[in-house]
Amino acid sequence: MSKVGKVLRRPVPSSAYSWYPSAFGIRQRQLDTLNAKLVNSDPLVKKIRNKQPVRVAVTGGAGAIGYALLFRIANGELLGPDQPVEISAVELPFAMNALRGVAMELEDCAFPLLSKLNITDDPEKGFEAADIALLVGSKPRGPGMERADLIRENGVIFQKTGQTLNRVAERHCRTTVVGNPCNTNALIAANNAPDIPARNFTAMTRLDHDRAVGFLAKKTMMPVNEVNHFAIWGNHSATMFPDISNTTIHGVPAHELVGEFRFQRFWQNEFIPKVQQRGAKIIQVRGSSSAASAANACIAHTRDWCLGTPIPDWQSMAVISDGEYGVPAGLCFSYPVRCQNGGYTVVTDDEQPVTHAKWWYQMKEYHIENNVQELLAERDVVSSLLPN
Ligand code: NAD
Ligand code: LMR
Repeated sequence: MSKVGKVLRRPVPSSAYSWYPSAFGIRQRQLDTLNAKLVNSDPLVKKIRNKQPVRVAVTGGAGAIGYALLFRIANGELLGPDQPVEISAVELPFAMNALRGVAMELEDCAFPLLSKLNITDDPEKGFEAADIALLVGSKPRGPGMERADLIRENGVIFQKTGQTLNRVAERHCRTTVVGNPCNTNALIAANNAPDIPARNFTAMTRLDHDRAVGFLAKKTMMPVNEVNHFAIWGNHSATMFPDISNTTIHGVPAHELVGEFRFQRFWQNEFIPKVQQRGAKIIQVRGSSSAASAANACIAHTRDWCLGTPIPDWQSMAVISDGEYGVPAGLCFSYPVRCQNGGYTVVTDDEQPVTHAKWWYQMKEYHIENNVQELLAERDVVSSLLPN
């Protein structure tokens, strides 16, 4: 077993920082101390370290997610409680009045960390010198639709956004795609921004990750911070693979906790469908797609990317694949990742040390392949939007 593996199997509460509050206070200082020891030439990390204002561009600021997101960014929940931010909110012309109202509310909060606020319907101005771009603006699905049904309408938005980012954003700009189908939209944006590294484009599967962690915590009646090493693989769609093969709950491997036989049934019949269908269920019950939880996941995804994941846990992020786990290079695929120093690394096989019966691995391979096939099919549909 690798060294990392031994760390993973130790009881989490005594060996990790994962019980610290997730955004503020001790965990923040812990991560700052850790990051300060690392040599880093990344301009965004330097800016954060020097507490220079970071420019965050957000599209869809007048929409449901945008409304839940902007106030939290201004309140320091994205980059920390002592990090000034400039927000640049980009909307469509017809929604500018609504966005003006949101801007008035932001002013009325007198957020000490909000050093500048721009609102615009001109993407060139909106993305100018952006350090971080949160791409939310796009159409959500309605009841009975799949996320991929949005691909033709929303794909074009991400082609234009990729081109604009390439022209005016900082070369180090980190982009988080929320708008659906988010994996393929991130692929489109990355392809249309050849001068920005492809690894700076990611899509959000953090909401699925957090949903699963919340579900496991509820099921086992444990605090959420006791659930570690969970992962979402693949596409943010009903095909995604929620993987608990390495998950520990209060330091105990989940399958040992439940018992191998019951666990197989729980995982396959209850857990996987529930996580895969949660977005659709929310649309059915709420009448519109998740908004506050999506904004929360967008903050958590981007915060961990920029500031680091708590050690030794990992998070799920859809990133442009380098071919890891046999996924064709260039597809935007969700993996377990560790973030440090303003970057991320995909967790390797060695770091997933819990051993299982053969069927676990066969099932994982099957699901990964299904996701690859689905993403390849989505890529074919948008091939005219992919110049590179
Ligand atoms: P919404 O309709 O409430 O808001 C979308 C906003 O985007 C609108 O104000 C619209 O004017 C704006 N917009 C559209 N095109 C734009 C463009 N080109 N530039 C700037 N703004 C633009 O929708 P919502 O509920 O906020 O959802 C937004 C997207 O996020 C949807 O695609 C939805 O499916 C997706 N989503 C993803 C996740 C995830 O986990 N990845 C979770 C929830 C929602
Ligand atoms: C979600 O997972 O809640 C979002 O992707 C919205 C949707 O369409 O399901």
